[in-house]
Amino acid sequence: MNEISNSGRNVTIEEALADAKRDYTARNPASLARQQAASAAMPGGNTRTVLYYDPFPLGFARGEGARLFDVDGHEYVDLLGEYTAGIAGHSHPAARRAVIAALDGGISLGGHNTLEPKFSALVKARFPAMELLRFTNSGTEANLLAISTAVATSGKRGVMVFKGGYHGAVFTFSGGANINAPFDYVLAGYNDTAGTRALIADNAEKLAAVILEPMLGGGGCIPATPEFLAMLREETAKRGITLIFDEVMTSRLAVHGLGEARGIRPDLMTLGKYVGGGMSFGAFGGKEALMARFDPSREGALPHAGTFNNNVLTMSAGIAALTEIYTEEAAKTLNARGEKLRARLNESAKRSGAAVQWTGIGSMMAFHPVAGEITTPEQSNAGEARIRELLFFDLLRAGFWIARRGMIAMSLPLTDADLDAFAAAFDEFLSVRRPLLG
Ligand SMILES: Cc1ncc(COP(=O)(O)O)c(C=O)c1O
Repeated sequence: MNEISNSGRNVTIEEALADAKRDYTARNPASLARQQAASAAMPGGNTRTVLYYDPFPLGFARGEGARLFDVDGHEYVDLLGEYTAGIAGHSHPAARRAVIAALDGGISLGGHNTLEPKFSALVKARFPAMELLRFTNSGTEANLLAISTAVATSGKRGVMVFKGGYHGAVFTFSGGANINAPFDYVLAGYNDTAGTRALIADNAEKLAAVILEPMLGGGGCIPATPEFLAMLREETAKRGITLIFDEVMTSRLAVHGLGEARGIRPDLMTLGKYVGGGMSFGAFGGKEALMARFDPSREGALPHAGTFNNNVLTMSAGIAALTEIYTEEAAKTLNARGEKLRARLNESAKRSGAAVQWTGIGSMMAFHPVAGEITTPEQSNAGEARIRELLFFDLLRAGFWIARRGMIAMSLPLTDADLDAFAAAFDEFLSVRRPLLG
């Protein structure tokens, strides 16, 4: 393992970061060349915004288990797990077998296939809020369809969303420029129980749906409070507004999804990421009365198209994901290991006296450069954002890959030794960077 930093202790954040980026640039010439080549045909050399960071992103050559290898030959412990989608790790044998079996049977059948009944039954059994469900190609599409279902069935266009929320490419609510889908949004404060209750009452006439994650994922792994979720269920039920839980990320945090674990069942729920066994995946589903509107044998059925909705690669890999990879037992074990890791990181932070912490549930967690309780993204954003960036570059140097914004999503092949090494690297970060951490 490399040392966490090659700069001295007595520097400012600006100097430390500039130093870290200089070191990063010198260590990664092949990644820089890859980025320059990619920029010829893609704006900024990028086709997925979250992956870009300054001065240029790493290019990965391959992955194996819980390891990643970049194009300059460095090896990393993968603690990002493809932003929750890569729960199986790289090239899991069961996923590989399932994909090859699907390939062997022909992949573009242009009709119904024999895998759909099995996969949909497995998804329904695992996530009981989905009395009926349909498949999409991504989490974004699942949310677009869930919201559109609420709009189509209610005749209203208002959608309540939350500051700091993210539900896909066209549903970003953290401020700044956006290309959001053109619904009539009502923006509320996450975990603001009284304020949101009042806002629902004030906008009841126009609200078709309320959509949220039961824990903000990309927004900083901030769990919803039980009172907040209970209030949303009560107010939406009372007023005939469709409550949608986006569980694209959070469904992995409990065997039957996080909403179910919290005892709150939404009207519609969306899935994505790991459930497709590493293939492109999304699903939306929920109350039979709502979802039955898509039954094409019914007069006036709602249409739902999508060339790849039932593609055999996803159906096959998804079956493997739920039966062989992320089994109920595996979900319990991974989340218990995550709880332990987060507690350990927070103990280190506390011991150091630095104003930093990790929030989250189970196998998902995020770093925050602030002390004190965090129940909203605003509280986290009040911290010094460059500390997060410094942590990212310091961990890269030490051989650990996490999200640039400080998120971890553990995958199954991570060993206890990997987690010990990560905890040690975080300890070193706290020690070396202590003067900068407040
Ligand atoms: C909570 C949440 N919803 C929806 C999405 C969108 O999923 P996809 O990237 O598959 O479109 C994401 C992706 O990160 C997500 O985190």
